[in-house]
Amino acid sequence: MTAPGRSRPAHVLANAPFRRLWMAMSVCSLGDWLNILALTALAGNLTQSDYRLQSLAVGGVFIAKMLPAVLLGPLAGVFADRFDRRLMMVVADLLRFAVVLSIPFVRSYQWVIVATVLVECVNLFWVPAKDATVPNLVRKDQLESANRLNLLVTYGTAPVAAMLFAALSVVGDVITSVVPFMSGQDATSLALVVNACAYLVSAVLIFTLREIPKRDGAISTPSVLKQIVEGWRFVGGNQLVRGLIIGMLGAFAAGGAVVGVAKIYVQALGGGDAAYGVVFGAVFVGMALGMFFGLRLLRELSRRRLFGLAITVAGLVLVATALVHNLAIVVMLTVLLGACAGIAWIIGYTLIGLEVEDGLRGRTFSFLQSTARVTLLLVVAVANPLAAIFDVHWLRFGGFAYRFDGSNLVLVIGGVLAMVVGVLALRHMDDRKGVSLAGDLIAAVRGERFPAEAAEAVPGLFVAFEGGEGSGKTTQSRLIAIWLRDQGYDVVQTREPGSTKVGMRLRAILLDAAERGLSARSEALLYAADRAEHVEKVIRPALYRGSLVITDRYVDSSLAYQGAGRALDPKDVSKINAWATGGLVPHLTVLIDTPPQVGLTRLGGAADRIESEPLDFHERVRKEFRALAAAAPERYLVVDGTLEAEVITRQIQDRIRDILPDPVPQESEDATGTMPAIRGDWTMPTIRD
Ligand code: TYD
Repeated sequence: MTAPGRSRPAHVLANAPFRRLWMAMSVCSLGDWLNILALTALAGNLTQSDYRLQSLAVGGVFIAKMLPAVLLGPLAGVFADRFDRRLMMVVADLLRFAVVLSIPFVRSYQWVIVATVLVECVNLFWVPAKDATVPNLVRKDQLESANRLNLLVTYGTAPVAAMLFAALSVVGDVITSVVPFMSGQDATSLALVVNACAYLVSAVLIFTLREIPKRDGAISTPSVLKQIVEGWRFVGGNQLVRGLIIGMLGAFAAGGAVVGVAKIYVQALGGGDAAYGVVFGAVFVGMALGMFFGLRLLRELSRRRLFGLAITVAGLVLVATALVHNLAIVVMLTVLLGACAGIAWIIGYTLIGLEVEDGLRGRTFSFLQSTARVTLLLVVAVANPLAAIFDVHWLRFGGFAYRFDGSNLVLVIGGVLAMVVGVLALRHMDDRKGVSLAGDLIAAVRGERFPAEAAEAVPGLFVAFEGGEGSGKTTQSRLIAIWLRDQGYDVVQTREPGSTKVGMRLRAILLDAAERGLSARSEALLYAADRAEHVEKVIRPALYRGSLVITDRYVDSSLAYQGAGRALDPKDVSKINAWATGGLVPHLTVLIDTPPQVGLTRLGGAADRIESEPLDFHERVRKEFRALAAAAPERYLVVDGTLEAEVITRQIQDRIRDILPDPVPQESEDATGTMPAIRGDWTMPTIRD
């Protein structure tokens, strides 16, 4: 079912004027991608005789493509406000058509560059006019779907264009040899003709789109440089965002290096235009595969870890691509490279969406978009001249000669850069410090689940007491707290539910015997809500101060009472609790295991809502507690609740003594009254599923 206001893309497309505009957008995007491919290929072909010249020529096309947007973007936006949008778009399309069509006939490198700049300048009017038109054609609640569709065609047409280019190159070779009029042309001409026709089709589509209002509202396009400077002021202070942006730009820069030298590299490997199209397409196919399957395959791996890992692997693959001189292997490696880049991008975007607060998110995205453009420009501006300067070298080992040229060097540098950025991202953003990455990865490949939330290192020590009704855990936890305080520790003794202001009100609802109407799910959610307050207001601050926290009941109670007792899906209960607690797990859980028949008879006074449940409910609870302990014996102590109280206390003391700091820090308390860090660097274990 679709929630109201979140209409599916199909609904926006049911809107005829938008559908027409969208078709024009798709055709233009396809044309734009074909344009990049054909022009870089043409530039390479026109300068084929000289490796250095060729590198510079291809780089020049990329720069000509990007410079107008960076320099003139805002200017065009201002102009775009002044004219009739529909007419402007139609005129722009016709201009693009004419300029692109002229390229194969003029066939000079200078004209390729001039034409590129012209087309890009025209784009500066077309794009903001189109962006401003979309909200005029669709309802507000459909805008998000419309934007998604827009994004889909902007990038989705890239692999289509790449394949089309490869196909046209093959067809073009045949045609040029058969049709006398076309002789002297190369295969890129055909691609440029198709590209020009795409703009013509768009012109016709938009001309017939009478719904576009003449002028309304301003289209504001702030300058790219201004966006970057202002954006950094807002997002630079946030550590996570900083890590994400550096990682994403690193991935982008490495990608830029590949795109920049792809044409000359493919040619050095003996591939023609068709092969160039295939390599170009392989990046996008890989990206799509990475976004759809990569994430699914590694669903259980921490997103932050996967982000750094994907960038590092991309770097490795890039280095391999540079060194293996075999076209088929290079294409396969390129798919892998694209997959890594796709994974990194989608995680980066999702993390920004999820973890960056509302007010910062928009700026972060626009900052990212503008910096990505500038990064790409800089990388291409540097990569191709670098390749040209380095030129071609032959390394000879006996009778075997190995070619190492400028494009190889650029790819190796790009790869190393990506590896450095990836490792930095892994270091800075790691949310599972202390857990081996290899182990994590193997588990993830096997599909074993880790909670999305973090395991965290805290200076304090966290011990939970669990058990059924009348198990005596309340008494025991008090005794242990006193014993620890006597040794000079700063101890916070607390319990669930009801240790915060909100928690006390929740507790009243939860335990009131009159609240019989409470559903199992709301019960689970209320306990989780109480716990979220408890963790955020009491437990976590105490642990970060370095205190010992002893809690009477924690997540396991919910798994046992709501999961097993109320027969809710334990996975769901685990998930909401992992979310509520931010993944905070006790270092030790003491389970006082008492048969319900014994425990229930120990209770005095009127039974509360849960105590008055039938015996088999309590049996299920006990069984679940024991199962939880058995699944992770290293962080549980199970004691027999029917033993003498003193015996139980001693057993618990023995176990806790093992994990306390050494020596007992009576006089080592510092001026602020916090206790010294617990021995070793504690890593919170994760919640089991
Ligand atoms: P309480 O009066 O604190 O007694 P005790 O902990 O000594 O049993 O009651 C807490 C009740 O709430 C207890 O019956 C168990 C129940 N409970 C849950 O069902 N789920 C939970 O997550 C928690 C913390 C408690």
